[in-house]
Amino acid sequence: MKQIHLKKSINVKRPLVEVFHYVSHFENNDQWNSSIKESRKISPGRLGVGTRFELIFGLGPLMATVLYEVKRYEKDKSIWLHGLGTSYEGEERISFHKIDELSTQINYEIEYQFKGLLNIFGNSFRENTFGFGGRSLEDLKRALEYVPPGPKATLMDSMQDTLIIPGVLNFTKRGHRTGKKKWGPLSSYLGGKKVLLTGGSSGLGRATALGLAKLGADLTIVSRNEEKSWQTAFLVEEETGQKVHVEKRDLSALEDVKALSEKLLKSGRPIDILINNAGALYNEREVTSEGFEKSFALLLLSPFVLTENLFPLLKKGGHSRVINVASGGMYTQALKLKGLEMRPENYNGSVAYARAKRGLVTLSEVWAKEWASDFINVNSMHPGWADTPGVAESLPKFYKFMEPHLRTPEEGSDTIIWMASAPELDQMSGHFFLDRIPRKTFLIPGTKHSADLIPKFYDYLKNKARPYLIRN
Ligand SMILES: NC(=O)c1ccc[n+]([C@@H]2O[C@H](COP(=O)([O-])OP(=O)(O)OC[C@H]3O[C@@H](n4cnc5c(N)ncnc54)[C@H](OP(=O)(O)O)[C@@H]3O)[C@@H](O)[C@H]2O)c1
Repeated sequence: MKQIHLKKSINVKRPLVEVFHYVSHFENNDQWNSSIKESRKISPGRLGVGTRFELIFGLGPLMATVLYEVKRYEKDKSIWLHGLGTSYEGEERISFHKIDELSTQINYEIEYQFKGLLNIFGNSFRENTFGFGGRSLEDLKRALEYVPPGPKATLMDSMQDTLIIPGVLNFTKRGHRTGKKKWGPLSSYLGGKKVLLTGGSSGLGRATALGLAKLGADLTIVSRNEEKSWQTAFLVEEETGQKVHVEKRDLSALEDVKALSEKLLKSGRPIDILINNAGALYNEREVTSEGFEKSFALLLLSPFVLTENLFPLLKKGGHSRVINVASGGMYTQALKLKGLEMRPENYNGSVAYARAKRGLVTLSEVWAKEWASDFINVNSMHPGWADTPGVAESLPKFYKFMEPHLRTPEEGSDTIIWMASAPELDQMSGHFFLDRIPRKTFLIPGTKHSADLIPKFYDYLKNKARPYLIRN
């Protein structure tokens, strides 16, 4: 069997740490290497000697699975992998050298042989057909250097959303699957970035915590249930080696939100990314000890107080981001001050939830304008329908009916992670995203509010929140 030996080098304009981080995570391969149809990490635990990956190569009509194992791992220096499949065996040695603070040289060496059928035909493939020939390394360079323009909805996206039914079908895992085909690589690195994530103990929050930690972020997660939060923290540490800070708070209690804000302000540490994700749908009306209807308190007033209070730390972060996790349910409701806190006689949990989420999307647009000159980007999103404990508990019938079509928490949280890290988002504020595409915020006739309601809405929240606001 003929052994093929290739050796290539490329220089990329990205710091060494970032380049090593992206390339050594071999599960990123399908983002930049067009011969790879799918790549994933298949062994638990943090990256190091013994970590295993599964890569599915597509060579025209042929598909080949290759299992890789890390044989040598020197952080920020080199990684060696051994790949074995029915038609392929190879050794890949990648080393990284700092050129200067902003650029890195990647040396890629590969020794391989085809086996079986590919042994007969394989050698006729040009070197760049398989794996890491010249073109693939150019693709890697592009993945590391290129910042795409901010995404725009296509005519098809807008038509599907407007026609409601196809739009709603995209809330299922189908929307994620279709969207994914158009996405470019995400080689962002969040090392040294401080993230405050509410609701990190479960569902989308847990998946977001893991996704952001994989990009190197320094996380604090907030929830009521300390044990569940620590489960997230242990998972993250086991997978990434990153420590997670845990804050036990009831975010529907605004005194607790204020106390958390005070603690963070006292620490003085800038916040680069604030993700208001905590949420719940209350089928039965509840009133908090502070006298607020609970959906309104948790889903709208609480992120209002937290974000307003943390403004100095967001500003200090310079180019910081606020991400508000809303819901597609908000499309069904108009912004009306009167109905924000639903009264007992007409309470409906889904309506109260949708109204609060409509409020959160509107608030994101207000902050985006107000804080543009402070370089704070504020966007909102909806995750589609994802299989989380929250959905299973609060919407059991919907859950039972839709279960096979629900997104995984990882699929639901993808847009949050992208919004927190993608460089093209630097220039985008005040948008509402689904599957990495900005969407219309009004689809149903009669749900659009007039512009003069917005200052009234903001004042309404401010008045309700006044005792809990640190800067008035
Ligand atoms: N899953 C979906 O399909 C879907 C669709 C649209 C929007 N969303 C939104 O996505 C976000 C996450 O939901 P999920 O589906 O991941 O639900 P989940 O699994 O129930 O997670 C909700 C998170 O919010 C936290 N939380 C709830 N009440 C809290 C409180 N009073 N104080 C502090 N933390 C609180 C929970 O932590 P503790 O229980 O530990 O307090 C948990 O970490 C929510 O804002 C939800 O509205 C989800």
